[in-house]
Amino acid sequence: MSKQRADQKWVKPTPHKSGATPPKIKKESLPRHVALVMDGNGRWAKQRGLERTKGHEAGELALFDVVEGALEIGISELSVYAFSTENWRRSPEEVKFLMSFNRDVIRKRRDEMHQRGIKIRWVGREAKLWRSVVAELEEAEELTKNNDLMILNMCINYGGRAEIVDGVNALLTDLQKRKLKPGKITEKVFARYLDEPKMNDVDLFFRSSGEQRTSNFLMWQSAYAEMVFMDVLWPDVDRRTLWKAIEIYAERERRFGGAK
Ligand code: IPE
Ligand code: IPE
Ligand code: MG
Repeated sequence: MSKQRADQKWVKPTPHKSGATPPKIKKESLPRHVALVMDGNGRWAKQRGLERTKGHEAGELALFDVVEGALEIGISELSVYAFSTENWRRSPEEVKFLMSFNRDVIRKRRDEMHQRGIKIRWVGREAKLWRSVVAELEEAEELTKNNDLMILNMCINYGGRAEIVDGVNALLTDLQKRKLKPGKITEKVFARYLDEPKMNDVDLFFRSSGEQRTSNFLMWQSAYAEMVFMDVLWPDVDRRTLWKAIEIYAERERRFGGAK
């Protein structure tokens, strides 16, 4: 248990309405960094004869229940994919909805996240993103910057390839300025040019909706992640789904290319 928890400095997570409690998993078997691809909102809405946007709205509750579950079980870093650099391909109406929806959710939830000891970080590109979304994200980052119970990376207008290419461009600029030497770029040096150089490698990569692909999420950071795909639509996910995925993760044997 971290010092902050023991001190009751933070508001404790609200227990799940079913009374469920996290499974007992040894600390060393817990993933440190969990990445979530929150997929299936559109299909969830379609199944109910609703507009796709209703699925996104329903997904908000799923996300914040999962956040509470992550706090309860003791995850230190959670990255959530809320809008990809490819999602601009959707209809202008859906894009517009997602922009204002993300902006409103961040504004509405930031105090609660702050009280729970969460440090919010925006990970993504600025290009095309609504100014008002960037402003809310920056305000949330500023408000929560000294919190240290859990990092919540809000990945909005994020793309793994775009992140790597932007990193290459920044690196080339430093090369030109002779801050770096050609031939001396290691993985460690390159990682400094990613959006969040201090981001831990992803341990558990979870995707809902039954699709089995990464869709360009945290490509560099997930090189050795354990993949867990579940056939549940995002709005039907809650903290118990996360705990189940963590139990599956804890059973896996991670070898990182080594041998026993
Ligand atoms: C994920 O749900 C949310 C975002 C990509 C913003 P989708 O909107 O992709 O839902 P499906 O995959 O169409 O069901
Ligand atoms: C990935 O889901 C992006 C987010 C969840 C934000 P998509 O629904 O956009 O991915 P594809 O189109 O199935 O690859
Ligand atoms: Mg989808």
